[in-house]
Amino acid sequence: MSDVLTQLAQARLVPVVVLDDAADADGLAGALVDGGLPVAEVTFRTAAAPEAIRRMADRGDILIGAGTVLTPAQVDKAVDAGARYVVSPGLSRAVVERCHERGVLALPGTVTATEIQAALELGLSTVKFFPAGTSGGAPAIKGFAAVFGGLSFVPTGGVSPANLQDYLDIPAVKAVGGSWMVPQKLVAAHEFQAVTDLVSEAVALAEK
Ligand code: 3PG
Repeated sequence: MSDVLTQLAQARLVPVVVLDDAADADGLAGALVDGGLPVAEVTFRTAAAPEAIRRMADRGDILIGAGTVLTPAQVDKAVDAGARYVVSPGLSRAVVERCHERGVLALPGTVTATEIQAALELGLSTVKFFPAGTSGGAPAIKGFAAVFGGLSFVPTGGVSPANLQDYLDIPAVKAVGGSWMVPQKLVAAHEFQAVTDLVSEAVALAEK
């Protein structure tokens, strides 16, 4: 699990993907790899998610996690398909415990001190901060980081090239998630070079 965290921290960016058709998974994975960002969070917002995760994970050149995971059953589907980490919009004890049973990293969403304490009680050292933009943004994370020493954050939701640096500048922020570099429409239209261009731009911004 710690190797996954290390890889996410190295990537600094986690593209949040919504795929309508698992047949697009390979092309999208190739676009991410070509753009220099071999990582993705494939969300369970569509029925295509498990098969898309399987196709992307089977390539072996990209770190795949599952997003929008709401139930232990979805954890099982995600992990069976090859997901190495599991992201949830909120904190569910049942989801986190199933992740621990399956040996994968759980990244539940937290936006209050109470939720963060609950995550700590479940043994977590990294949490998603979602939706970051409407939950106080970078200043809120700085406030929490001052109190919860040793805790790391992956802010997601409302992040864009315009505010990316505000988040990445915070030492407690391991990585930042977002969908801006993988627009659903471009993927569905197989505009994979355009996705690669967006990803390359995001990677260059994150390296600044
Ligand atoms: C998520 O699931 O983390 C968010 O939908 C991503 O948020 P964004 O679309 O604002 O980047």
